[in-house]
Amino acid sequence: MSETPETTPPEITPEAVEAAVAAALAAFAEAADTAALKTARTTHSGEGSPLSRLNASLRQVAPERKAEFGKLVGMARGEVNKALAAREEELAALELAARLEAERVDVTALASHARIGARHPLTLLQEEISDVFVGMGWEVAEGPELEHEWFNFDALNFDVDHPARQMQDTFFVDPIDRHLVMRTHTSPVQVRSMLERELPVYVVCPGRVYRTDEFDATHLPVFSQVEGLVIDKGITMAHLKGTLDHFARVLFGPEAKTRLRTNYFPFTEPSAELDLWHPTFTGGARWIEWGGCGMVNPNVLRAAGIDPEVYSGFAFGMGIERTLMFRSDVQDMRDMAEGDIRFSEQFGMVV
Ligand code: PHE
Repeated sequence: MSETPETTPPEITPEAVEAAVAAALAAFAEAADTAALKTARTTHSGEGSPLSRLNASLRQVAPERKAEFGKLVGMARGEVNKALAAREEELAALELAARLEAERVDVTALASHARIGARHPLTLLQEEISDVFVGMGWEVAEGPELEHEWFNFDALNFDVDHPARQMQDTFFVDPIDRHLVMRTHTSPVQVRSMLERELPVYVVCPGRVYRTDEFDATHLPVFSQVEGLVIDKGITMAHLKGTLDHFARVLFGPEAKTRLRTNYFPFTEPSAELDLWHPTFTGGARWIEWGGCGMVNPNVLRAAGIDPEVYSGFAFGMGIERTLMFRSDVQDMRDMAEGDIRFSEQFGMVV
């Protein structure tokens, strides 16, 4: 059997042992993580490391010095192993702490809950308006948004060739011969209320209406109106005026009032343009065009089967977006259509 030593074993000297130990301890201390420490261990205490080669040299040492050198190398290896174990433990603890920190869950933290949102200011105003009338004993009436032309126009005394029927104002719905339209105002609910309800009628009718208008700062093709209708015995224009003044004061403060200017609507006679004195308008108190009104035209009463000799009534209607604009100083109506929470939030987080 032939032995082929790879290298000549180093000579054992206290200096060589000390140097090997010092190098090992320095490398262990320097190792920043367990992976680096593993490499340092291979280099400084593994097979082929200076210390194990010194250990191997013991075989060549003269018998009388074996004990002395054995002790020297043995103690060195012990010291290195001890340092290695200590550093291993230290790094493991550091790494565990770092992992715990990284995966930390703060169980006391407040959950980042979803925002609950805000009710739309149009909805709020619509309800506020309904409340004014419900407070006077009126009822809230509703009608369909896809309406028969008869309710939207004919029963309201519009001539067949009335301009409002034309394509530029009204969304006609296919097939045309079904005579369905997206209602252009809330007034068809007047007719429905008269047909469906017992007399007398006191109703407020908020709802969405449709016109082929541009989408700009002061127009929306889909907007909302509120309609008021009273049918009773002995109803006069004084009742209309008193009701509108009360309504104006509730919404715009005790200084508010209304003014009527003659106008024409097919379904009212006489008819009036309704102006509001807005005492707290941004930029100074002023008159603002608010809506339309009048005494219910006898032809409309007749269309609903009501005897105009016995009953009379008044009606009024106005846009809710417009009302919100000058009541809450909204510059652009499109903000009301876009559904951005930052707009709605300004009116309070009512839920
Ligand atoms: N319906 C009319 C409009 O949309 C407003 C109105 C309602 C006028 C009731 C008179 C009476 O312009």
